[in-house]
Amino acid sequence: PAPGWTVDADVVVVGSGVAGLTAALRCTAAGLRTVVVTKARLDDGSTRWAQGGIAAALGDGDTPEQHLDDTLVAGAGLCDEEAVRALVTEGPDAVRRLIDTGALFDTDPESGVIQLTREGGHHRRRIAHAGGDATGAEISRALVEAVRSASLRTIENALVLDLLTDADGRTAGVTLHVMGEGQHDGVGAVRAPAVVLATGGMGQVFSATTNPSVSTGDGVALALRAGAEVSDLEFVQFHPTVLFLGADAEGQQPLVSEAVRGEGAHLVDADGVRFMLGQHELAELAPRDIVAKGIMRRMREQGTEHMYLDARHFGAEMWESRFPTILAACRSHGIDPVTQPVPVAPAAHYASGGVRTDLHGRTTVPGLYACGEVACTGVHGANRLASNSLLEGLVFAERIAEDIAAHSASPGPAVHSAEAPGPLLDPATRITIQRIMTAGAGVLRSAASLDHAAQALEALYRSAADAADQESATHGDDTAHDVKDAEPGVDSWEATNLLLVSRVLVAAARAREETRGCHWREDHPDRDDDAWRRHLVVRLTPGRT
Ligand code: SIN
Repeated sequence: PAPGWTVDADVVVVGSGVAGLTAALRCTAAGLRTVVVTKARLDDGSTRWAQGGIAAALGDGDTPEQHLDDTLVAGAGLCDEEAVRALVTEGPDAVRRLIDTGALFDTDPESGVIQLTREGGHHRRRIAHAGGDATGAEISRALVEAVRSASLRTIENALVLDLLTDADGRTAGVTLHVMGEGQHDGVGAVRAPAVVLATGGMGQVFSATTNPSVSTGDGVALALRAGAEVSDLEFVQFHPTVLFLGADAEGQQPLVSEAVRGEGAHLVDADGVRFMLGQHELAELAPRDIVAKGIMRRMREQGTEHMYLDARHFGAEMWESRFPTILAACRSHGIDPVTQPVPVAPAAHYASGGVRTDLHGRTTVPGLYACGEVACTGVHGANRLASNSLLEGLVFAERIAEDIAAHSASPGPAVHSAEAPGPLLDPATRITIQRIMTAGAGVLRSAASLDHAAQALEALYRSAADAADQESATHGDDTAHDVKDAEPGVDSWEATNLLLVSRVLVAAARAREETRGCHWREDHPDRDDDAWRRHLVVRLTPGRT
C-alpha cells in the first residue's frame, strides 16, 4: 500500500547498535536532520550482548601497527589493508570519544588507567571492557542515553521494508512498517537522500547462535533487493566457546567470552587434556577460526558434542568481579564455573561479510551507506579479529557521518521501491531455514552438504512461490499486491530475509572451493591463494529474487 505517513529528513539511520547510534549522533552534531529507525527497541540489537570488549591500541607499548598485523593475520589474506589501517589508527581516539559520550570502561582503581585484556589472535593486552564482561551493555546504555538527550527523532518497532530511489537511481529513503500504537503506526516512509544501514548481522540464519532474535539479515536482504553489491557472505564466524546446552538447543545461546581464555582459562577435552597446546603458538588464544576448528576436530575424535572450558583456578572472587554476566548465565543453567569445567561448543557468531562499502561506508548504490556488522568494509577479511567489531562500528560510523555532511543533497521524488517481488514467507519457515543451514552450511562444510542445503532452500522458495501463485489465481490479483495489502508482520519479513541471505550465503560457500579463515571445506582442506585470494561479490538485478 502507499505509505500512510511520511517523515522528511537529511539522513535515516536503520538500526540502533554501536554503529547506528554513533552515526546518528555524529550526523546530528553536524547539523543534519537525523531519524533513527529500529526494528524493536533502541537497545535490542547485538551490541548490548557483546561481552569481551573493544580492541584498540591504548596500552603502553602497543601501536596501531601491531594491531594492524594481528588483524591481517586473522583475516587470512582477504583484509583490505587500507581499511584496517583506518580502523586501527583512528580506533584509539574513537574509543576516547565514546568515553566522552558517557561510556564507563573498567579502570585500575589506583591509577585510573583503562584495564585491558587479551582475546584470540591478539599478541598483547588490547581489549577495553566494561562491567567486567558487559561491555556492549554499557556502550549501548551510554549511546541510548546520548541519543535520548540529543535532538533527533527515533522510531522504534519499525521494520525496514525497502529502499526508495529516485529517477536517477539515487537513494531517496526507506519504507517502514511500524508496529503498535502511535503517531507512525502502519506502513510509512522516511524520505532522505542518505540512508545508513546499521542493521547488524544474520546469526539467526543458523539454529544455534550468540545473536539475538532480531539478527535476521534484514540490511543485507534490503541491499540485495536494491541492487547493491554484497561480498564475503561465506565467511561466517563461529565463536569457539558458546555454553553447550544440548545438541538440539536452538535460538540465542549464552556466550562465554574469549576474555575468559584471555585471563587464563584452558580448553580441555573429555579426558581433561589441553588439546590446543601444540596446535598454535598462541594455544587457546589462537585466532578464532583455529580454535573453533581445534574444538570440532577433538569433538570428532572423541565422539563428543562439546569440549570444556576450565577456569576453576580463577576462584569465586575473580569469577564474580571479572565475569559476572557469564557466571550468572552458567549458574542459571545449573553449571558452576567456580567448581566445574564449563561445557562449550562453537556456534554462529558474526558475519564477516556483508554489504560492500568503500572507506567512507558508501555502498554501490548512491546515497546508501552500510556500517557495522551489516557492512563489508574489508577490515575482517576471511575471519574477524576478536573485539574489532565494536571498533569498526565506531570508526566507520564517524567516517560515514563526515561523508554525508560533506555531500548533503536533496532527494528527487521517490519513484521506485525495491520491494520483495517474490513471495513473503510463512513465519514457520524460519526454523526450517535454520535447520537446513546448520546441517549444510555450518562450521564444517562440503560440496555434498552445501548442495543439499541449496536444493532444500530452493524447494522452500519454490513452494512459497507456488502457494503465492495459487493465492493470486484465486483472488485474480498479483501476488505482491495481495501480500502488501495484507500488511504482513515482522515474522514473515524476517523469514523472507533469512531465506534470501541464506541462498546467497550457500551459493558463495559452494563456489569457494578452499578452506580459508572461517570458511572450512572438508573436501577442500587447504588454502588456495592462487585461485582464491579474492572476494566473491554478489549483485542481484533489482526486482529479482
Ligand atoms: C567475546 O567476548 O568473546 C566476543 C568478542 C567478539 O566477538 O569480538
